[in-house]
Amino acid sequence: MHGTMILGSQWGDEGKGKITDYFAEKADLIVRFQGGTNAGHTIVVKDEKFKFHLLPSGVLHPEKKSIIGNGVVVDPKVLIDEIENLGKKGISPNLFISERANVVMPYHKMMDVAEEKLRGKKIGTTKRGIGPCYSDKISRYGVRMIDLTDEKILKEKLKNIIPIKQKIFQAFGEDTVLSNDEILKEYLEYGKKLKKYVADTSLIIAQAFDDKKNVLLEGAQGTQLDIDHGTYPYTTSSSTTAGGGCTGSGISPLKIKNIVGVVKAYTTRVGEGPLPTELKDETGKYIRDRGGEYGTTTGRPRRCGWLDMVVVNYACRLNGFTSLAVTKIDVLSGIKKLKICKAYHYGDRIIDDFPANPGILEKCVPVCEEFNGWEEKNWKETVKKGYNALPDNMKKYLDFISFSSKVPVGIVSLGPGREETIDIK
Ligand code: IMP
Repeated sequence: MHGTMILGSQWGDEGKGKITDYFAEKADLIVRFQGGTNAGHTIVVKDEKFKFHLLPSGVLHPEKKSIIGNGVVVDPKVLIDEIENLGKKGISPNLFISERANVVMPYHKMMDVAEEKLRGKKIGTTKRGIGPCYSDKISRYGVRMIDLTDEKILKEKLKNIIPIKQKIFQAFGEDTVLSNDEILKEYLEYGKKLKKYVADTSLIIAQAFDDKKNVLLEGAQGTQLDIDHGTYPYTTSSSTTAGGGCTGSGISPLKIKNIVGVVKAYTTRVGEGPLPTELKDETGKYIRDRGGEYGTTTGRPRRCGWLDMVVVNYACRLNGFTSLAVTKIDVLSGIKKLKICKAYHYGDRIIDDFPANPGILEKCVPVCEEFNGWEEKNWKETVKKGYNALPDNMKKYLDFISFSSKVPVGIVSLGPGREETIDIK
């Protein structure tokens, strides 16, 4: 295993949490490297559901080290709540938070709301302050985790930042009043609670590699939400792709040996932006209901559509996936005829590379391959018998995914539990 990265190949919500939890069994150290509380993953262990926004999935294995890398934007209040909730279940996380990670401040969340209100075309953000926090990081106005542990530095930073933010809110026509003293007091308090976790995480990961430990990097969101390569501007504000894994955790790309692309057996998207294979009919509703396709973070219904291999193949190219983990394929049971999009019709042209131009993408019509479906089964029992026990039509569907992407399917997931997973050796 050594250096393994788990990444979403679509618009997030591919089931990365479960796949990460599965790989975490063999890992010694699990790293989250980007995003913030906009992410949400649900992990089911022995029928008990755990929902996290910030904590890496690895925290459910307290004997392993869990790391929040420098590329993550940390909302300290949410993080403290998640740690305390785990504590109530008797789990004390073996957690390290990068001292270089930027902190989500109250004005970031307010600005996220204010910007959405003023935008002509909304992005449909999660309103968790993610974009404004990353903007401040790039503009070098950011507050970092290490600052929360040093009163003098935090005071100085806030003295510089707050008047600027205040002026921006005024220009936006907002009557927000920011209190320097209150923010300082609140965030120093968070600093006190989190100090024991704050560390040079890049160094800890480097030491783990030196000691020949297995390091697992866990992506949040998906390739199509990447700030550079996604459906900009309908993306998140971080690098969700393989390169982001290295900068967001402070490691060399040479350390990564496996890159697992998580592919949901159909497509979903929350928020605005184009979705070429969207199903606005009964089949879309069937998939949404069976797949429980409602946002973990915002509760919004997800838009659903057929699997789009133009999207997945683009993700394979950008990330260099060494294998794929296909999730939620059980959700498609009972649909008589299934479709997989293999290219787009754009006017009289056929496109099989994902276009950057949103004007082109909006007009793309999917070119699909049709597949016979399969009936619902007791998947827990089927999984015990291994890959060969899967319905033939399901295997044809999976074969097409690896044929089209030229990447082997290594894992098939047929339910939320750890035991509902087939590892194709
Ligand atoms: P933000 O990340 O809150 O700025 O939201 C930007 C876009 O990314 C919106 O369309 C969100 O719905 C989407 N988004 C952010 N995080 C996730 C996620 O974890 N899963 C799916 N969509 C996400």
